[in-house]
Amino acid sequence: MNLYRLARPFAFTLEAERAHRATIAALKLTPTRHPPHFPKSLCSVVAGLKFPTPVGLAAGFDKDAEVVEEMLGWGFGFVEVGTLTPREQAGNPRPRLFRLRKDRAVVNRMGFNNRGQPSAYMRLKLTRHLGIVGVNVGANKDSEDRIADYVGGVRAMSDVADYLTINISSPNTPGLRGLQDQGALEELLQEVRKARRAKGPPVFLKVAPDFEPGDPDRIVRAAIDHGIDALIVSNTTITRPDLRSKHGAETGGLSGRPLKSLALDALRQFRSAGGEQIPLIGVGGISTVDDAWERIRAGASLVQVYTAMVYEGPGIARRIAQGLARRLKREGMGSIAQLVGSE
Ligand SMILES: Cc1cc2nc3c(=O)[nH]c(=O)nc-3n(C[C@H](O)[C@H](O)[C@H](O)COP(=O)(O)O)c2cc1C
Repeated sequence: MNLYRLARPFAFTLEAERAHRATIAALKLTPTRHPPHFPKSLCSVVAGLKFPTPVGLAAGFDKDAEVVEEMLGWGFGFVEVGTLTPREQAGNPRPRLFRLRKDRAVVNRMGFNNRGQPSAYMRLKLTRHLGIVGVNVGANKDSEDRIADYVGGVRAMSDVADYLTINISSPNTPGLRGLQDQGALEELLQEVRKARRAKGPPVFLKVAPDFEPGDPDRIVRAAIDHGIDALIVSNTTITRPDLRSKHGAETGGLSGRPLKSLALDALRQFRSAGGEQIPLIGVGGISTVDDAWERIRAGASLVQVYTAMVYEGPGIARRIAQGLARRLKREGMGSIAQLVGSE
């Protein structure tokens, strides 16, 4: 039985952010299960890390690294915590999280609310190492030197991260996406490179789906030149495809089903810019086995999910992973690696 189906009507009576807090609290109360066993065909090595399945939890759900073990126990192949800023910050005023039920979407303008890197560091230090944990780092809103915040994040969190993500694609910190521009990106990546330790974790860069023609080529080139290990495509969009829900016009980043085609198209553009030179992680509107399959065929070595989990519950990761394994078998493929970029 899908327990989440039973709990969802109750969760949906709560204001969206309260429902999120209640979900985290409920997850903390349930005994941690060991991560499920998955077929070998789902296992792949990306950026030197061995992922048991290609279906991960996207950043933003567990910003403060409170339920990492629980989410691995639910069957996510990896969990990305954050975005974490050097100092604790409150984020934007509420309400700042909206469910768009008719569109199976969410709009958020959270603005990097989080308790800061030091407190997450302590929690991650105490976390049992049951699977791959990525740490997504960002800059404080009032920071005078944003690049220094990223450098600080890389230094502070390397110890407790299997990989780090440099997130310059949130639409909710004014000016942050400007770091994707040519000069700023070069400077940022150069400084990040200097801050990395020789045997430190791989570093991924998370990009926005809203860009100008030519941006994917430029970003891929800069990422490769500066030793970035993978690109996460993509964050939420500030555009508004046709939406039916009343919250569609709220300011913030849109995620979920209406983001799907945009994020897929973005992934294809990054794949055609980088080929096999840099691995890609596909995110945005993935909610079914077919969605994940299509994203991997389009060039994603891994995928991540967030908004679909709001509507379907945390069992979604396992369902998608098992569906991928069945389909690989049906198509006579021995591994996910064979599928990557095969379209
Ligand atoms: C409420 C909410 C908060 C988010 N917070 C972050 C964040 O802190 N850092 C980040 O890199 N992405 C954040 N994201 C973006 C997701 O990681 C993901 O890139 C995006 O939602 C698209 O995937 P989805 O359609 O499966 O949700 C957030 C998304 C949502 C819905």
